[in-house]
Amino acid sequence: MRVRRRWGLALSVPLALIVGGAAWVGISARALGLPARQVLRQPWRATLLSLGINPAPVVLRVPPAQPLTAMAQLGRALFYDRALSASGRMSCASCHDPATGYGPPPGSGAVMFGGPALRTPGLRPPPSLAYLYRRLPFSIGPDNEQNEITLAAQLLHAAGPHPRALKSAADPTAAAANLVPQGGLFWDGRVDSLQAQADGPLFNPAEMDAGSPQRVAAIVRADPVLAPQFRRLFGARIFDDAQRTVSEALFAIARYQIEDPSFHAFDSKYDAWLQGRARLNRQQMRGYLAFIDPRRGNCAACHLAAPGRDGLPPLFTDAQYEALGVPRNPAIAADRDPAFHDLGLCGPVRQDLRTQQRYCGMFLTPTLRNVARRPVFFHNGVYHDLRQVLAFYDFRDTEPQRIYPRDAQGRVLRFNDLPAADRANVDSADAPFDRQRGQPSAMSARDRRDIIAFLRTLNDGWHRPR
Ligand code: HEC
Ligand code: HEC
Repeated sequence: MRVRRRWGLALSVPLALIVGGAAWVGISARALGLPARQVLRQPWRATLLSLGINPAPVVLRVPPAQPLTAMAQLGRALFYDRALSASGRMSCASCHDPATGYGPPPGSGAVMFGGPALRTPGLRPPPSLAYLYRRLPFSIGPDNEQNEITLAAQLLHAAGPHPRALKSAADPTAAAANLVPQGGLFWDGRVDSLQAQADGPLFNPAEMDAGSPQRVAAIVRADPVLAPQFRRLFGARIFDDAQRTVSEALFAIARYQIEDPSFHAFDSKYDAWLQGRARLNRQQMRGYLAFIDPRRGNCAACHLAAPGRDGLPPLFTDAQYEALGVPRNPAIAADRDPAFHDLGLCGPVRQDLRTQQRYCGMFLTPTLRNVARRPVFFHNGVYHDLRQVLAFYDFRDTEPQRIYPRDAQGRVLRFNDLPAADRANVDSADAPFDRQRGQPSAMSARDRRDIIAFLRTLNDGWHRPR
């Protein structure tokens, strides 16, 4: 009798621990928003996720950090050089500030002002210059992200559909023909290389407004620090040809962006987490799961969050184009003309696709790395707070009256930054945009807050507390 009771005691303690442990995993995994099915099927994964730990750590293949070449050092000097601008007060860094991931400086309005007196408004906010090192040239062709595996698929729906299948081009015939616009630089992909791109801002009258190559070459030639560097790198006769002086300067600026590790630091908390070197807190973990969940944020369908099979770190963009139908921004000077529309791929800035109506309204999906440091969001800078961005994604279709203004008759002006004829291009297939007015929205208020907390883990410069 006594022996049996002792045995009973000895068994019941570990049993209680097991049952208690399983209940803890179940409850905390459910509190994270993991589907019950997944918790049952993959209890070990659920346990690690509940603890904030990455269940599948990887070794990330990041660009090696090397000392800058002489060319890149010259590029750095030029990147920060205000003397080249008409105003004498503007450099590349004025609009591409390292403090915000090389996006607009903190506190900026929708667009930057350039020109001789810094009073000429731009049309779009500056995108981040970071994480462009793997950007391919612009093309319209087969979807080129076949080699990306998604954590959403791994973690949540191992047996379910691949999340890429949940993202479809707005035009089903184009999708069938595999005509996906992708790659390129700028919001409309109109430029292919960092070097080609830099003469745009250098000479753009709304930006640095540097005047002519002759003016730029003369300034460089008269500069006691720059001139000898130019002669050393490009030969004694470099200043004989102003056009060549400018091309070499742009080449040097491009080298700086390619070589300097600050343009691809990969030292965010999320990068550390991917490599098993950091734990996300509860809110960040919930946000991450909502971000990748195809039924809630579905953000990772376009803002890719998983490392490639080869260990390439995710860039939080698929480098493809979508028309999201963000509201018109009355703060943009050009938008005061009701007939003006910035249609991205199909113009008016970009010229070569003007006749391709199916691409009207499409803009490049930007990286979300360092996005929590940006002061403005979307191609027209309509939002200044990530809470507004999340509300846009959640309520654009279910409660459009929260997103768009009304006309005189009280009708909600959906997609009011696009001409009526182009509104069919707006993505209404991919979650969270796959809903009708009056239906429940895809995310909860907590999901939206949590996703913002997760986005902050994408800020560079996170260091492990010692
Ligand atoms: C007055 C603000 C301003 C200045 C100064 C400026 N830029 Fe920009 N930059 C922008 C804007 C705005 C865009 C996006 C324009 C568009 O999409 O049409 C942009 C886009 C870019 C892009 C494309 C980035 C991407 O993610 O696609 C690169 C690269 C770039 N600029 C480099 C430079 C360099 C190099 C300099 C200095 C020579 C510079 N910029 C100076 C405002 C500026
Ligand atoms: C169907 C593809 C797609 C999905 C899904 C998607 N995005 Fe985007 N995202 C885009 C595109 C395209 C833009 C730029 C649109 C524009 O400016 O007109 C963008 C822009 C943004 C921006 C502004 C970044 C900047 O530099 O201005 C943020 C922030 C953002 N997305 C967050 C999210 C979050 C959070 C989710 C999930 C709730 C999400 N996105 C889901 C395609 C997508």
